[in-house]
Amino acid sequence: MADEDAFDLSKISIEPIRRKPGRLIQFCGHPEIDDWVERAAYDEHLDGRRRVYCAYMDELEQPVAIYSLLMEVVTVRRPKPIAGVRLTEPFPALGIGYLAVGKQMQRRKLGSLMLADALQRAVALADQVAFPAVKLRAAEPWLIDYYGQRSFLQFDQEDTHRMLVPTRTLIDEARKAADAATHRL
Ligand SMILES: CC(C)(COP(=O)(O)OP(=O)(O)OC[C@H]1O[C@@H](n2cnc3c(N)ncnc32)[C@H](O)[C@@H]1OP(=O)(O)O)[C@@H](O)C(=O)NCCC(=O)NCCS
Repeated sequence: MADEDAFDLSKISIEPIRRKPGRLIQFCGHPEIDDWVERAAYDEHLDGRRRVYCAYMDELEQPVAIYSLLMEVVTVRRPKPIAGVRLTEPFPALGIGYLAVGKQMQRRKLGSLMLADALQRAVALADQVAFPAVKLRAAEPWLIDYYGQRSFLQFDQEDTHRMLVPTRTLIDEARKAADAATHRL
């Protein structure tokens, strides 16, 4: 990444979607996601079909990145234990959907920041409600590696794009990060 492309991630505020994004020529370049951002994201957030979170930069009214969360019932034939966690058939999971970064902002770690924010919300939710996993579907083949590098594992032999991370793994990682921060003080 060139230096002039760098931007200050601390200027980003990630919060529930503020308003309907309105007409967009293109958001992230993925047609299905672009259509959802323009037409449905805000309404689905309001009517509770999913919660939608956006990254805003101080001076911009339009979001620069987006993702959504909803509880899902995941069906998979004969699920194997994942990282020592037994899964029922079907099993509940917190689903991350429509993770996307605006075209001009891609490859500047904003996608990683949005995913980390979603996983932080999952850990907070797990304090109140038990659910075994956080699940998503990699929209492109290269994203299987992308999510794999961020603790997600494939769980469905028939659809290798379906990935999950056990909630227990997230809680352990959050605890280790908090311990490490305490030791640095
Ligand atoms: C997927 C997405 C959210 C990633 O966000 P991002 O901010 O661009 O990604 P990050 O900056 O966090 O990570 C960048 C890394 O991802 C990988 N990567 C990013 N785009 C890539 C591409 N088109 N092909 C292969 N690898 C890619 C590279 O390893 C890259 O590191 P590098 O820039 O040092 O080479 C973004 O590319 C996007 O919005 N894509 C269109 C919508 C989409 O497909 N969403 C996924 C739904 S599951």
